[in-house]
Amino acid sequence: MARCFVTRELPGGAIERLRAEHEVEVWSERLPPSPDELRARTRAAEGLLCLLTDRVDRELIGAAADLRVISNYAVGSDNVDLDAAAERGIPVGITPDVLTEATADMAFALLLAAARRVVEADAEARRGEWVTWEPARLLGRDVHGRTLGIVGHGRIGRAMAHRARGFDMDVVHSSRSGGVPLETLLESSDFVSIHLPLTPATRGLIGEPELRRMRPWAVLVNTARGAIVDTAALVRALREGWIGAAGVDVMEPEPPPADHPLLAAPNLTIAPHIASATHAARERMADLAVDNLLAGLAGRPLPAAAQSG
Ligand code: GLV
Ligand code: GLV
Repeated sequence: MARCFVTRELPGGAIERLRAEHEVEVWSERLPPSPDELRARTRAAEGLLCLLTDRVDRELIGAAADLRVISNYAVGSDNVDLDAAAERGIPVGITPDVLTEATADMAFALLLAAARRVVEADAEARRGEWVTWEPARLLGRDVHGRTLGIVGHGRIGRAMAHRARGFDMDVVHSSRSGGVPLETLLESSDFVSIHLPLTPATRGLIGEPELRRMRPWAVLVNTARGAIVDTAALVRALREGWIGAAGVDVMEPEPPPADHPLLAAPNLTIAPHIASATHAARERMADLAVDNLLAGLAGRPLPAAAQSG
């Protein structure tokens, strides 16, 4: 029996599987444990199952003398200091594959919603502004036949490309390993969707120069990490019409203060970081996160480990 700290309740029965073998404490509140609470509980743990809202930094890892495995309930691992974990020989698990299709579905939903002004239209209809059928009200952008530029060419980016081809879009991509240069993609795409991990190399990748390169009608979609885009520049891009619209599931910071300027920007469709939020995907993520934790505690290789560096 190893001591495990799980930083939130998870959907499905995965935590029960963990309880069957180990001593498990689950943080049962809606909001994450504070850094102090997280440190206090992790200090005594051998296994940590955490969320992307938990900052697992060098200090926390250093203070947890018995910690043997970190299992992140996310495909991203930017909230975990992978180098600090690697130095201690602590494997870090993540949840790839099981959320790929759900995340691409949400990216495409944001693309379509932004192109066809779905949220704005819904609000107008409910406000009683549907007074007649009008030839030139709520006009949006065609999706079919347009070019989608995918930044990143991993699992989710490829799943996005697959959807786009079903909509008769032309698809280009830009990634470290191939495709077209980012500048070319930005200049030639009607839709740009970001599918990259947040790393020192991708932080701020889409800033003012990049947004200014985009077509004035182009739609930016971000379901990856908010910090890949310079939020202040995005606000100006939307206000000043450098781009046509944006559909974002992530932003910097999360959660935003209620008066954050992005929330008041025009032509923005925003969701609160829910791209993997289907019943099926979140239960599979819980299963994989528990499998990672169990493997780490047993000294076996993790089914899905984050790669540091
Ligand atoms: C969500 O953002 C994840 O990394 O799984
Ligand atoms: C571009 O999408 C346009 O409709 O002009």
